[in-house]
Amino acid sequence: MKVKAKSPKAKFGLPTVFLLCSLFFFAGLFTFTLLSHVSFPQFLSGPRSVTRTLQSEDGEDHGPLPQGETGDSFIQSIPFQVLSWKPRALYFPRFATAEQCESVIEMAKTKLRPSALALRKGETAESTKGTRTSSGTFISASEDETGILEIIEEKIARATMLPRTHGEAFNVLRYEIGQKYDSHYDAFNPSEYGQQKSQRFASFLLYLSDVEEGGETMFPFENGLHMGMSYDYKKCIGLKVMPRQGDGLLFYSVLPNGTIDQTSLHGSCPVIKGEKWVATKWIRNQEDLE
Ligand SMILES: *[C@@H]1O[C@H](CO)[C@@H](O)[C@H](O)[C@H]1NC(C)=O
Repeated sequence: MKVKAKSPKAKFGLPTVFLLCSLFFFAGLFTFTLLSHVSFPQFLSGPRSVTRTLQSEDGEDHGPLPQGETGDSFIQSIPFQVLSWKPRALYFPRFATAEQCESVIEMAKTKLRPSALALRKGETAESTKGTRTSSGTFISASEDETGILEIIEEKIARATMLPRTHGEAFNVLRYEIGQKYDSHYDAFNPSEYGQQKSQRFASFLLYLSDVEEGGETMFPFENGLHMGMSYDYKKCIGLKVMPRQGDGLLFYSVLPNGTIDQTSLHGSCPVIKGEKWVATKWIRNQEDLE
């Protein structure tokens, strides 16, 4: 009896199980495919879905259009990563070449002086000593006979779509071990600094060197973090951007409606190992750069 009952089951069992498995597999695949097409973007909110929606549907490249008198005849891509919306901060990997960076360091080396600060009402050089301990110098593109600063400046103008005429001269800075810049705003608050002819509303930092350890650009108030608390302006916290030779960092100090973005507070963490070189370009809202 045992043998009889078992053998038919075994004969029909295997193909049946196989058939059922296949059926479930294909049913599952069908459902997944259907869901993927209908509601994939709703399921996935993240870099992947953003990339998907930004990609062209047919994958066919569209060539350049006829340009205006001041435009380009070609399509250019400058890769970037949004590091933060609060503040609006973009990272540009390999914005400049290592050779370009080394040349800018060479030009600046002989001209370095202790970095100065824009003083608030009531502040003196003595009272702000220790806030910014780097050395630096201003170099304008027109002073640079190699033409490298002009190339970099031109690329910054393209990446930001902010005209070159709105940029200050490059401020090339060197931070040695222990040197830093306490958190501050690049924009001038009129109540603290008095009325200015123009406002620094965007900053572009080009890292001219790698730093072995430390030296990150930090945004302690990123996304409103640490804002309510009594934050120590010397503390190295929040969103940190590691300096890497040739990389660029752009952030906006002013909101679209013209008020200073409180989350654009930033500083330079102390260099722990190595040396940090950076070229900063402040971009103003007026061509009058004062
Ligand atoms: C500007 O925009 C910010 C953020 O949306 C808002 O908090 C602030 O009140 C606005 N200021 C003015 C003057 O409209």
